[in-house]
Amino acid sequence: MIKKLFSFWQKEDGVKDADRLMQAIDRERLPKHIAIIMDGNGRWAQRRGMPRPYGHKAGVESLRDIVKVCNQLKIPVLTVYAFSTENWKRPREEVNALMDLLVQYVYQEIDDLDQNKVQVRAIGRIHKLPEKCRRAVAFARERTADNDGLIFNLALNYGGRSELVDATRAIAKKVLAQQISVENIDEQLISSHLYTAGLPDPDLLIRPSGDFRISNFLIWQLAYTEFWLTDVMWPDFRREDLLRAICDYQNRERRFGGLKRGNNKR
Ligand code: FPP
Repeated sequence: MIKKLFSFWQKEDGVKDADRLMQAIDRERLPKHIAIIMDGNGRWAQRRGMPRPYGHKAGVESLRDIVKVCNQLKIPVLTVYAFSTENWKRPREEVNALMDLLVQYVYQEIDDLDQNKVQVRAIGRIHKLPEKCRRAVAFARERTADNDGLIFNLALNYGGRSELVDATRAIAKKVLAQQISVENIDEQLISSHLYTAGLPDPDLLIRPSGDFRISNFLIWQLAYTEFWLTDVMWPDFRREDLLRAICDYQNRERRFGGLKRGNNKR
């Protein structure tokens, strides 16, 4: 009973916190693109004496809440790291559980995502995923392609280095076919050959679970991104954490290699 009351109080407090933070956010200066490394699922589960996939399953709840809030706030793009090119090294049961979870997630959420005008996309070497995952991704993409709400990028079998390899190969082929010359290769051309072509670079990267690494995520696109780190594990991450990250982001001064505003005297 006491436990129940306590969790109710915590929940109420979280809701109040979220309301207060919602009010504090400047709607004119929202990040255009938020990227999230959904980390800490495994540790979260193991601390509860449960197998790691239990943590991934709990992580889906966090994802659901965060997608909803980003869409409500009219954030244009959200990219989440769901499976990296390195995650294949994990035990087969965990990899299978993650693939099953992806398929389940798509078919369970698609109506809600579609009704809320979310546009689902995927980035990474999607063609190397198991067929049932490729089918689920293609289905979500096609079903939501005409939506004009949040662009929700699932990074699946994604690696920043393999993304650069794929972009380099595509550009090299165009050079060999004499469609472009070597002199045409500049930053903009490279950006336009990445999986994220046409999207703004992330303004804000969120990494929960206390680790301070990029982990091969969007390595080109994160050049001037603001990082926000927290000890909260992804399955515990909720809207108030996201809103706190956005508030902090809005209090930062971004210089993009230049000087502080008003400090351009010699
Ligand atoms: C990293 O935590 C997380 C992952 C490798 C998977 C993230 C996947 C989800 C949150 C599931 C929801 C997403 C979809 C689209 C199905 P970790 O396992 O490395 O945690 P650890 O650092 O504690 O071991």
